[in-house]
Amino acid sequence: MKKLYIQTYGCQMNQHDSERIARVLQRLDYLPTDCAEEADLILLNTCSVRDKAEQKVYSALGRWRELKQKRKDLIIGVGGCVAQQEGEELLRRVPYLDLVFGTHNIHRLDQLVTEAAAPGRRPVELGFYQDPSYMEDPEGRPQVSGPKAFVTIMQGCNKVCSFCIVPYVRGREVSRPSEKIISEVRELARRGVREVLLLGQNVNSYGKTSAGELSFAGLLGELNGIEGLARIRFTTSHPQDLSPELIEAYATLDLLCEHLHLPVQSGSDAVLRRMRRGYGLSEYLSRIERLRERCPGIALSTDIIVGFPGETEAEFRATLEILQRVEYDEIFAFSFSPRPQTVAAKIYPDDVPSEVKKRRLEMVLDLQQEISLRANRERLGCVEEILLEGPSKLGQGQLMGRTRSNRIVNVMGPKGLVGEVIGVRITGASANSLTGELLKIEQREVA
Ligand code: SAM
Ligand code: F3S
Repeated sequence: MKKLYIQTYGCQMNQHDSERIARVLQRLDYLPTDCAEEADLILLNTCSVRDKAEQKVYSALGRWRELKQKRKDLIIGVGGCVAQQEGEELLRRVPYLDLVFGTHNIHRLDQLVTEAAAPGRRPVELGFYQDPSYMEDPEGRPQVSGPKAFVTIMQGCNKVCSFCIVPYVRGREVSRPSEKIISEVRELARRGVREVLLLGQNVNSYGKTSAGELSFAGLLGELNGIEGLARIRFTTSHPQDLSPELIEAYATLDLLCEHLHLPVQSGSDAVLRRMRRGYGLSEYLSRIERLRERCPGIALSTDIIVGFPGETEAEFRATLEILQRVEYDEIFAFSFSPRPQTVAAKIYPDDVPSEVKKRRLEMVLDLQQEISLRANRERLGCVEEILLEGPSKLGQGQLMGRTRSNRIVNVMGPKGLVGEVIGVRITGASANSLTGELLKIEQREVA
């Protein structure tokens, strides 16, 4: 058996892609290893959404140069968003690199690795596909490694946010056929998966580019009937595509968890316009209001960018105000970084000084800590339903689970309960997680 080491950067989509890479390479008898030194094949699955993604890739490759000098038959490859963006340039700058593959080419990886093993061959494959079959798992058997599973439902994005590189590196929207998704989820549930996380760059525009396909809410409705499944989540959504039908799904589908990640990016209409987000603040807020009317108590999370070109102090304050107004449960906040090919990088100077970006980022994160802590403290004494996912990071025999609203809860309990949906009483709260006690068996049915 040969050994495969995969280093993954970036989002859940990339993690999921890496799982698929490992599956495709089983065809060539590669088994995963955690140790780059003992690998016969090293693959770097990259992300280029933010920061100095390219430098990070070149320095990781630098660390493996020595390994390659010692073992000429070692194969090193780069895939994912940076590969898509840099292409042949990677081969030019890294003479010991053997292979480059883009975000749509994972299904061909066994052939590309075979080619890379031949003397003098350094394949580069970066083509985009519109036919969704490239997303299918040829083995047709999803792997199960716990009670939760990722399921890709679409790839790419048709929006044109001025800061974002995704449409350039992941292509235009392509949705998988709903019958394939439904049968995959059914099979996962049959194998013991209790929760699925539907993945895509813009999942709520699912199906829009495929004639006759279900809408996203329609797909959720179909998945809601699958036996054995307990929870459905999805990420990421665009506010413009938060349709009345999807809002209604939150009110009617019992498996759909009461949590929505809805990136707002900025609290200032002027910045949103420069970002080309396609909505204004009042539209965003009225959609949230409707959602909260139909699904009271729904947890919301968001993405924030600080220091977008031209962001004044007043525009930044508007972002703090939106955090206070919406009271998100969680936020992911980033300093703006210009990305190659994007409109913002072409037309706006990156003029907010880095120390100002840093201060704004800290202010946003500090404010959110207060809001999250307050919201979590309100849960004290409440009974919540959690899905136990596995051992807690805190160790000491604790297990970790999540509420339907996506809050982490640490509890003492036997490992045998992993995979159970169970009632807990909340006994402790910090900004980032909760502590709970398992209810006695006769109390565990959560109303
Ligand atoms: N589809 C999602 C949406 O509707 O907004 C966004 C997906 S993007 C991969 C994840 C997040 O990264 C964005 O929401 C944004 O906050 C952040 N991001 C993207 N490009 C960025 C950039 N150039 N600088 C800083 N943050 C960025
Ligand atoms: Fe990027 Fe905007 Fe699409 S943030 S992924 S272009 S919705």
